Amino acid sequence: MTDRPSPPTSRERFLAACRRSWSGAPPAWVMRQAGRYLPEYRALREGRTFLEMVRTPELAAELTCQPIRRFDMDAAVVFSDILVPPVAMGLSVEFLAGHGPRLEPAVRSREAVERLHGFDPASETGFLAATLRAVREEIGSEKALIGFCGAPFTTASYMIEGGSSRSFEHTKAMMFGDPELFLELEGRLVEALLPYLAMQVEAGADVLQVFDSWGGALDAATYRRLVLPATRALVQGARASGVPVILYVNGGGHLLEVLLEAGADVLGIDWRVEPADAIARAGGRAALQGNLDPCVLFAPPAVVRAETERVLDAFAGQKGYVFNLGSGILPGTPVEGMEALARLLGRS
Ligand code: CP3
Repeated sequence: MTDRPSPPTSRERFLAACRRSWSGAPPAWVMRQAGRYLPEYRALREGRTFLEMVRTPELAAELTCQPIRRFDMDAAVVFSDILVPPVAMGLSVEFLAGHGPRLEPAVRSREAVERLHGFDPASETGFLAATLRAVREEIGSEKALIGFCGAPFTTASYMIEGGSSRSFEHTKAMMFGDPELFLELEGRLVEALLPYLAMQVEAGADVLQVFDSWGGALDAATYRRLVLPATRALVQGARASGVPVILYVNGGGHLLEVLLEAGADVLGIDWRVEPADAIARAGGRAALQGNLDPCVLFAPPAVVRAETERVLDAFAGQKGYVFNLGSGILPGTPVEGMEALARLLGRS
């Protein structure tokens, strides 16, 4: 019998694309792929709080696997939240229906920054390691598993604002008014987040994504001066655990050159960035991930197919490309939209 090499698995294709050495059909996943648009998510959510689900490994693992079963994506992203570390550092977090998260007390003074404490990831966030292990048990070694955390700026903004924000006025007031204090807060975050990410790799994460979801609210010079050093330290420290790192920024088209300096393996971009422009500006220094407008999934299947093909064509021939939406899938997305996407990508 001749030994034919078996075709590469989803995990191998995903890792090769992150390392810019994959030339076949691109690996694909969807940010926030486990969530309220899925009826099986809503069924489990019934009568429970979001954080209860995050902290219960059997539930979190089940939720992580739901979109994999349904859409056969190449990667599972562990069901958790970027607001888990702020809780472990001493804040309280509540998710109020229709209002987004509320964090207390808001971190707006030196005393408040100094009250934040580091944490032992195994004892304070062991549920996340247990979830990753349970997911690996179910998906086996053929799918990629993604761990994540919020970037220093985005995490700091939730802590300083005490929740979501449009203008980030308290965050920017600290950045411009007391940059030393802001840098101190970011330093504490990087110190706490690195062991937290290392724990995720040890528990089975193949890739780490750093969400700088709101980094696009800053001008490039301010990002470079007050945010890049911490983002870079986090990305480089995470890479030292041996896995590729994806740095995702929403609305960060104007920051591309600055973000490349963080040295992530992959840069996640949103739909406002023209793929050809991103490819030219990245100049082979990072793989790219993105960037279908999540609202396309609300359109009829034929439009989902056409728009997805437009994105795939724009990135065709790139050795470092991971298909994704340009931001998280929206809670009201019709399942049919996601089904049309999965079918076009050759799944299910
Ligand atoms: O991608 C996945 O499937 C994994 C799970 C995941 C969640 N949050 C679950 C979640 C991930 C990767 C996140 C990251 C996250 N969390 C980000 C960055 C991603 C992005 O979209 O840019 C941010 C900004 C948060 C903070 C957060 N969590 C907010 C602002 C909210 C409330 C708003 C909302 O969407 O309801 C959450 C709650 C949250 N995180 C839900 C889920 C499934 C909804 C919880 C529910 O009510 O059922």
